[in-house]
Amino acid sequence: MSIKTLSIYTFRNLTEVHLTLSPFFNLISGENGAGKSSILEAVYFLSHGRSFRGHVLEPLIQFNQQKTILQALIETTSQNEVSLGVMKSLVEEGQIKIGGELCRSAAELAVLLPVQLLNADSFDLLNGGPAFRRQWMDWGLFHVEPSYGDLWRQYNRVLKQRNAALKREGAAVVRCWDEELAQIGEKMALHRAYYIEQIMPLCNDIFGRFCDFSFYFQYERGWDADKLLLDALQGGLARDQHLGYTSAGPHRAELRLTIEDKPVQTILSRGQQKWLIYSLKLAQGLLLKQQTGKSCVYLLDDVPAEWDDQRQKTLIAVLQDMASQVLITGIDLSYLHELTANLPTKMFHVEHGVVMEAYAANAENLN
Ligand SMILES: Nc1ncnc2c1ncn2[C@@H]1O[C@H](COP(=O)(O)OP(=O)(O)O)[C@@H](O)[C@H]1O
Ligand SMILES: [Mg+2]
Repeated sequence: MSIKTLSIYTFRNLTEVHLTLSPFFNLISGENGAGKSSILEAVYFLSHGRSFRGHVLEPLIQFNQQKTILQALIETTSQNEVSLGVMKSLVEEGQIKIGGELCRSAAELAVLLPVQLLNADSFDLLNGGPAFRRQWMDWGLFHVEPSYGDLWRQYNRVLKQRNAALKREGAAVVRCWDEELAQIGEKMALHRAYYIEQIMPLCNDIFGRFCDFSFYFQYERGWDADKLLLDALQGGLARDQHLGYTSAGPHRAELRLTIEDKPVQTILSRGQQKWLIYSLKLAQGLLLKQQTGKSCVYLLDDVPAEWDDQRQKTLIAVLQDMASQVLITGIDLSYLHELTANLPTKMFHVEHGVVMEAYAANAENLN
């Protein structure tokens, strides 16, 4: 799965950009403020129907413009091509198109174009609240477990109803939701436990290529380990009424990462934490590939300049093994260019929102 062509119109400082990408490495260089991150944000937007910054449109649409259009031609695993298009406007309803047909759900974009983003905010995966780690598990399950997307949506719908009942209704109405919530919640928790079991060795294999540590996941599913969710919901009713929300269930799950029983943040340096975050996200792409044959597109924004040659080599080697498409930005990518010189790599240079393709000696490998 890779992006063949990408067109961006009036998205941040990118007025009109057309790129033909390599199915492997794409190195995007340019000074600060040139528009590098905006290119990655456009790809993320095409995959999610929104930015990684959230749902607010205004900052994304170019100043003095009313809408933005993003289009891509995707090569799917079956060697077919499909077009994706997203139009978002400040004055009219947005549109998502897949293969030229209007489509209502952004989730269909993600199915066709799974994307993994690594940028400065990825630190949240270790240092932010449990929601970031639940999101990480859910990304993996959404792409490898066909029923998970529906379970997740149903769960959140019922949870919302129960929470509304806790605020406004009596105990009898709240109890009406318990059975359905428990049934879906138990399934989600089992999927998550299984996913963690499967991905742990992959994460450690990759992390072990960056450094000599290995870590553990301690998965807490979100309610007492020795109880059924239904019992936890029924037993916790008085507390939930007092709190005004449901305090047991997979929406409260936590995934602790530990080394020798201590939180990884207390053991690893900032640099080592970055390798761990990269390992967690690379392992997800690897598991996706192993289980479905699909690959995800990696967006690496500002590959850490402080990484030594060995770590950069490891990163490229892991990505190369996965045969993933990668878009990498940075101010100076000369070392990465050397590393990928024998691979079908494309180089782009961005200046004031204008993207130029740089000549690559190995460009003939692309055809
Ligand atoms: N809505 C917008 N319209 C036009 N330009 C914008 C908009 N939002 C941000 N910019 C500008 O886009 C430029 C590109 O930002 P960015 O992609 O983050 O640069 P880089 O990653 O290359 O450092 C910045 O100079 C920023 O000021
Ligand atoms: Mg940037």
